[in-house]
Amino acid sequence: MLSPESRLRDFPSLADRAYLNTAAEGILPTAVGEALTRYARDKQLGMDGRKLHAEEWERAKTLVGDFYGLSANEIGICSCSSEAYNLAAMALHLRPGDEVVINELDFPAGATPWLQESCAATVKVWRSRQGALRTEDLAPLVGPKTRLVPVSLVSFFNGFMLRLPEVVETVRRHSPALVAVDVTQALGRIPLDLRGADLIVSSTHKWILSTHGGGLVGVPAARAREWTVPAGGWFNLEDAFGANRFDRAVSKPGAASFTVGMPNYPAVYATRAALDYIKGVGVETIDRAVRPLVLACLEELKKLPVELLTPDEPEHIAGILAFRHPAAERIHEYLHARNVHVMSHAGRLRVAIHGYNTANDVDRFIRTLRDALQTV
Ligand SMILES: Cc1ncc(COP(=O)(O)O)c(C=O)c1O
Repeated sequence: MLSPESRLRDFPSLADRAYLNTAAEGILPTAVGEALTRYARDKQLGMDGRKLHAEEWERAKTLVGDFYGLSANEIGICSCSSEAYNLAAMALHLRPGDEVVINELDFPAGATPWLQESCAATVKVWRSRQGALRTEDLAPLVGPKTRLVPVSLVSFFNGFMLRLPEVVETVRRHSPALVAVDVTQALGRIPLDLRGADLIVSSTHKWILSTHGGGLVGVPAARAREWTVPAGGWFNLEDAFGANRFDRAVSKPGAASFTVGMPNYPAVYATRAALDYIKGVGVETIDRAVRPLVLACLEELKKLPVELLTPDEPEHIAGILAFRHPAAERIHEYLHARNVHVMSHAGRLRVAIHGYNTANDVDRFIRTLRDALQTV
């Protein structure tokens, strides 16, 4: 785990702030900055740099595969989770009568492609109860017409963590639907077991501590047929420059069909370095060190006059806690002015605790929040 010295060496910007907002923006370790500099150097080589870019690309895919429990061939990289889901929507070829079950705790990227007028499917909504998604509420919503159930493993809204095997089992028992899992709020923070997921999606700029501009897509080989994106482009196509290129376009199968054009190599370099960094520290190590801080923070929040939005169920919590208060915006300003960084959005405050956070950060947050609640 990070020592006080390695923490400051790798994250100098954290010297005097309590940064508890990784669910919005992760802080880059210095190694990621160096990878971006390396990208710039390689790009200076012009076309000769492509070979070096391609090596980073392969290493990044291998690493993502390690984290997802897949091989490099089962990984595609596009530019954000939203893009991944829109491409996934193309691959599904939804027809009138098909159904998609979205849920109230999901991020818009996974919930909205199916709500566009152009989408032929009927959308059902899996509602939450007291901030929790219960599989007994999912069961009546899925049936023979359900084609897709997209979920976030950890909710951006309140940090509720699903039990993926239970969701997969519920879906399989009632329908032939595919299960898509967005792990943006989990990847790099908690150990993952994504067996049973038919599609995996993640952004790169949060817990894995990489830059913006990556959408990490996992398509298990057994699902390559279902997730072959019929998009125009070239990087995604078989024989894009062949003699028949004006007759037809044929997508590469599965994960490879999710990168339609030139990859976002700066994000690829950054993601490779960030995942190497997280792997070096160890996700299990991070979770073991940080979980007690999350639970301690939860206990303290429960004593305060705030409306907790995260269910008080430790087995459903990863790194995020959220609460509401009528003066949330002023509380946020109060905290921020004292260099305590949390997320404020629509009356909700969200705290995110990662491996670079310390017990001191959490104490400082709770103390400052207590003061804020008496002042605002
Ligand atoms: C669960 C989840 N998915 C996706 C995103 C971001 O999506 P995109 O990469 O399309 O910006 C977020 C950002 O908050 C998120 O919390």
